[in-house]
Amino acid sequence: MKVAIIPGDGIGKEVTAEAVKVLTRAGEVFGTKLELEHLPWGADHFLQTGVTIPKDGYDTLRGFDAIFIGALGDPRVPDNRHARDILLGTRFELDLYVNYRPVKLLDERLCPLKGRGPKDVNFVVFRENTEGLYVSVGGRFKAGTEDEVAIQEELNTFKGVNRIIRHAFQFAKARGLAKVCMADKSNAMQQGHALWQRVFKEVSAEYPGIQATHYYIDALAMYMVLDPGQFEVIVTNNLFGDIVTDLGATFQGGLGMAASGNIHPGKTSMFEPVHGSAPKFAGKNIANPIGAIASAALMLETLGMTKEAAAIDAAVARAVRENQVTADIGGTLGTVEAGTSIAKQIGQVEG
Ligand SMILES: NC(=O)c1ccc[n+]([C@@H]2O[C@H](COP(=O)([O-])OP(=O)(O)OC[C@H]3O[C@@H](n4cnc5c(N)ncnc54)[C@H](O)[C@@H]3O)[C@@H](O)[C@H]2O)c1
Repeated sequence: MKVAIIPGDGIGKEVTAEAVKVLTRAGEVFGTKLELEHLPWGADHFLQTGVTIPKDGYDTLRGFDAIFIGALGDPRVPDNRHARDILLGTRFELDLYVNYRPVKLLDERLCPLKGRGPKDVNFVVFRENTEGLYVSVGGRFKAGTEDEVAIQEELNTFKGVNRIIRHAFQFAKARGLAKVCMADKSNAMQQGHALWQRVFKEVSAEYPGIQATHYYIDALAMYMVLDPGQFEVIVTNNLFGDIVTDLGATFQGGLGMAASGNIHPGKTSMFEPVHGSAPKFAGKNIANPIGAIASAALMLETLGMTKEAAAIDAAVARAVRENQVTADIGGTLGTVEAGTSIAKQIGQVEG
């Protein structure tokens, strides 16, 4: 298997180094051949060369079995154009329509919700990843004046909505889960979200064994806090999924804990921690590497290396249990030391 590694910017570089350490260790323990090739794309590369992603960059990425990316975002590139080209560009160009974000609490002490533990916080969010408000359709008229008009269109297609909702039901069925909840804002957004309503009804009718529920997105946010245990699979659009998964990350102990995959089933997919490049934390050896390491495990799981993925998850769970972690979740270790401690446990602990 060949994996492209794009460390990116800020703490992205630091957490990626730890994910690579863990992947390398898993490869040694299980005798798995994993070829990791680093690509330098990011703010430094852009500032030195003026290139965000090379002309054949997306084709280069298609040549790998998977892509691992740290985070992108640097104050020296205020318009964030390199991040748009590398991250959003790859999501769109490789048609990575499934944004898979597990929300799984490993230890009660990490959860800010009163009295909630791992039993209550264990669900996945599928965020539509190629449409919605993130397609940058629109424009600004009379920009910079008092008459400025800014229009940003939300794109919803039958194909796009159908495939993400279908993926959520297929996932639930394959994992023996009982419930899928769709969240939209169809009461106020009566065109685009009527399509979500229609498709959800049609697809859910094909899965009579799975309970299909619906919340408006504002109610979903409230119920996630009040009663997270009711959720197994949530499916929603690009913007809402972006927001509720940051909320979900806080249930897990913060942004440093959350993992994600940008997936096109059967094709080259991309894995990354949910957090950004946190420039204020960069270079201080304080970033939590667990979100990145758990994303590496998701990558191996998606590539069919389930033993290796389970071993990484078990090593992460043990690190959390034994508080061999960074300060954001109550430990005393630095990024490097936390990553090393997890890597050493691979193959030593059961899940
Ligand atoms: N996928 C991505 O690459 C991605 C995602 C979000 C933001 N960004 C970019 O990152 C830059 C900073 O954005 P931001 O500050 O809004 O979000 P951020 O996720 O980088 O950081 C927000 C806060 O979350 C906490 N945090 C994040 N990651 C952590 C970790 N690994 N360990 C411990 N704490 C952690 C910190 O308190 C941090 O200040 C911006 O340029 C933004 O565009 C990139």
